[in-house]
Amino acid sequence: MPRKRVTSGMRPTGSLHLGNLLGALNNWVRLQDEYECYYFIVDWHALTTPGGGDVVGYENTGALKDRVREMAIDWVAAGLDPGKCKIFVQSHVPEVAELHLLFSMITPLGWLERNPTYKEMVLGYKIENPSYGLLGYPTLQSADILAYKGEYVPVGKDQEAHVNLTRDLAQRFNSLYGKAVFPITETLLTEVPKVPGLDSVDRKMSKSAGNYIALSFTEDETTRKVRSMFTDPVKIRKNDKGHPDGCVVFAFHGIYNRSEEEVVRSECEKGERGCVDCKIELAKEMNDALRPIRQRREELEKAPGRVEEILREGASKAREVARATLNEAREVMNLPPREDG
Ligand code: TRP
Ligand code: SF4
Repeated sequence: MPRKRVTSGMRPTGSLHLGNLLGALNNWVRLQDEYECYYFIVDWHALTTPGGGDVVGYENTGALKDRVREMAIDWVAAGLDPGKCKIFVQSHVPEVAELHLLFSMITPLGWLERNPTYKEMVLGYKIENPSYGLLGYPTLQSADILAYKGEYVPVGKDQEAHVNLTRDLAQRFNSLYGKAVFPITETLLTEVPKVPGLDSVDRKMSKSAGNYIALSFTEDETTRKVRSMFTDPVKIRKNDKGHPDGCVVFAFHGIYNRSEEEVVRSECEKGERGCVDCKIELAKEMNDALRPIRQRREELEKAPGRVEEILREGASKAREVARATLNEAREVMNLPPREDG
């Protein structure tokens, strides 16, 4: 039995933080043993918005290459194994662009205009001149998935509308051309543990909010970030009774110091634990957990050409699959066969 195919991508935002690790990445790592996985860094998608400042976009491409490389390093450091899954850059598979073009012919504008992410971008982020590419974002995402005939897409809830559009598009293509070329993809909703930002248990850790701990941080930087975490503001002295549920440090004990979580809670509530010690303990647990990832990171950064080699091999395997899909798609659409396949 061939293994089912999983596809997923991330925009190249540069080095990843604990939210990305605990949310998406650990899940991807688990899937690579069971499925045939295609994981790609979507550099084209990064160009759908203008960008500016620290954010890459079509007006601000300077850091794009480095961001892609950083992300690839983090993926492998976090445990994606190039021997088990295909790791590559979206734009290294030009077949995806061709499939996107074919899909663009059969994507009704209404589907794209109704896409909640598009509306959010245009209204929420006040993008004044939304581009053709931004509107077509989900069509490109569909090409990402369907070029490899992805059956499952592990993503968060925010991406569900895009995967649904992919399903609709596959159905439309298959019925227009009378052959089930594409699978009807399913979302594998990722159970995401809540990873709060350093500043509040009610905010998510995110790059743009600056409230994160990156995989690329040193142990000292991590310890400093833990020291800056928001705690119970009415707990001033060690003997004050605390309220762990609103405390970011406590939330992270729940993730990185699971076995002691209840001890931390009760000592905090009884006024038997000071915030300074509580943070020292957490920083140690976090650094212990992150050490192997950081070591792999450093090794990769030092090995000349290793990252490039991983990405090259991933793209070459992915292209083979995408090429075969494109041949099928072109054939059922009656495009004249092309010599180079
Ligand atoms: N849109 C996705 C995000 O913002 C990234 C993405 C691009 C993707 N292509 C994909 C995710 C294909 C899954 C499958 O997170
Ligand atoms: Fe938070 Fe720990 Fe301080 Fe309690 S003792 S408020 S859990 S940092």
